[in-house]
Amino acid sequence: MSKIATLEVDGQKIELPVITGSENESAVDINKLRDLTGFITLDPGYKNSGSCTSEITFLDGELGILRYRGYSIEDLAEKASFPEVSYLLIFGELPTAQQLAQFDADIKKHTLVNEEMKNIIDGFPKTAHPMGVLSALTSALTAFNPKAVNVENEKEMYEAICKTIAKFLVIATWTYRKTMGYPLNYYDNTKGYVENFMQLMFRLPTGPYAANPIIVNALDKLFILHGDHEQNCSTSTVRMVGSSHAGLFASISAGVSALWGPLHGGANQAVLEMLEEINKDGGDTDKFMAKAKDKNDPFRLMGFGHRVYKNFDPRARIIKKAADEVLNTLGVDDPILAIAKKLEAAALVDEYFVSRKLYPNVDFYSGIIYRALGIPTDMFTVMFAIGRLPGWIAQWKEMRENKEPIGRPRQIYTGHPLREFKSNK
Ligand code: SDX
Repeated sequence: MSKIATLEVDGQKIELPVITGSENESAVDINKLRDLTGFITLDPGYKNSGSCTSEITFLDGELGILRYRGYSIEDLAEKASFPEVSYLLIFGELPTAQQLAQFDADIKKHTLVNEEMKNIIDGFPKTAHPMGVLSALTSALTAFNPKAVNVENEKEMYEAICKTIAKFLVIATWTYRKTMGYPLNYYDNTKGYVENFMQLMFRLPTGPYAANPIIVNALDKLFILHGDHEQNCSTSTVRMVGSSHAGLFASISAGVSALWGPLHGGANQAVLEMLEEINKDGGDTDKFMAKAKDKNDPFRLMGFGHRVYKNFDPRARIIKKAADEVLNTLGVDDPILAIAKKLEAAALVDEYFVSRKLYPNVDFYSGIIYRALGIPTDMFTVMFAIGRLPGWIAQWKEMRENKEPIGRPRQIYTGHPLREFKSNK
């Protein structure tokens, strides 16, 4: 028997359907609310509002659960590869060996980026932030692939997916090469996806290059952990832009811009800068904890807190463990790891953080690993974007396949009532 919610407003009582998901989450369906009552709901930041139903990712913020297509993030991080998880997120099932090999081969058909794209990146100053360059280059891909994707045509959709995965990785690394003044590298179709990331980033024409398998393995795991996260800010942006039937590249480009913000994906860079500041300041974590709690101080403990997780972010647990392993294996002794652990330990017993259920999130430890792997700080959010790409594609595809209406929220107007025009000149 389907549940209903009763709402009484302005003396009128209405019944609204309740929908329940496969993990027993419930929502009041307000599709007919305005027609029935003239009222809308108001929820800045959408803290209580669902934008869609989705079969891709499930997370439980209270229990610290994260699953892609029903598989736990712990299992996927330990047992799968990033290309395998990308396939799972986008097509809904883990690939067979043959499907994975075909997916890899089909991606490799599109790994050459149009040479004219170099004219665009040459227009940027070396000092341009990689995320701004990546967003622009992603949007520019439309110029070289102008034909709109017919999402109803499986073959066209599949080709657009392979093209996006192939080219996004190359242009993402070009943003780093540009800041370093290095020549832009080409994808090497004899190597794997994550190994290619390393050679695209670090191979120099002056000598041979071989990626360290420990680093490739650690990055593969990190990309998996960033794969998708239901309706976060950047993914909601990708769905919103795509809902106007804008193209996949344009929608992903918008997602890159949303991810850039320090409250979202940009937090991994902000965490490192915060830890370096604390380290330079003598490592006094208590002083910075006090700043984070001081309402008059804009300082926040970056990498802490989450809109949904009111428990440990399961990804943070895995990344923290990986940070220890990677730094030990590489023989890196980074003082900021100790500072991060000291901050975490202090926050986990501090009333301010405990009462607000502020725990380390995915961004708190990831930057420490990236730094140990030789990734520069202002590339950290580009790393997040590379990991999140399959999630953005999966969510965009689901939104279009579900024929969702164009996103267009309502508002409550609080400005001037009608007034007669009287010039102030
Ligand atoms: C990501 O949504 C996703 O899924 C995102 C993500 C993904 O995979 O896509 O998980 C990736 O974006 C992780 C979050 C990265 N951002 C940061 O680490 C930035 C620092 N954290 C915050 O700014 C904050 O916690 C947010 C933005 C993450 C969440 O903000 P909310 O849900 O809007 O919560 P809020 O700002 O209303 O905070 C509630 C209270 C406030 O105090 P009071 O007004 O109740 O007294 O907690 C305080 C805040 O001041 N607070 C913090 C804090 N985070 C929240 N105080 C100090 N330091 C912090 N980090």
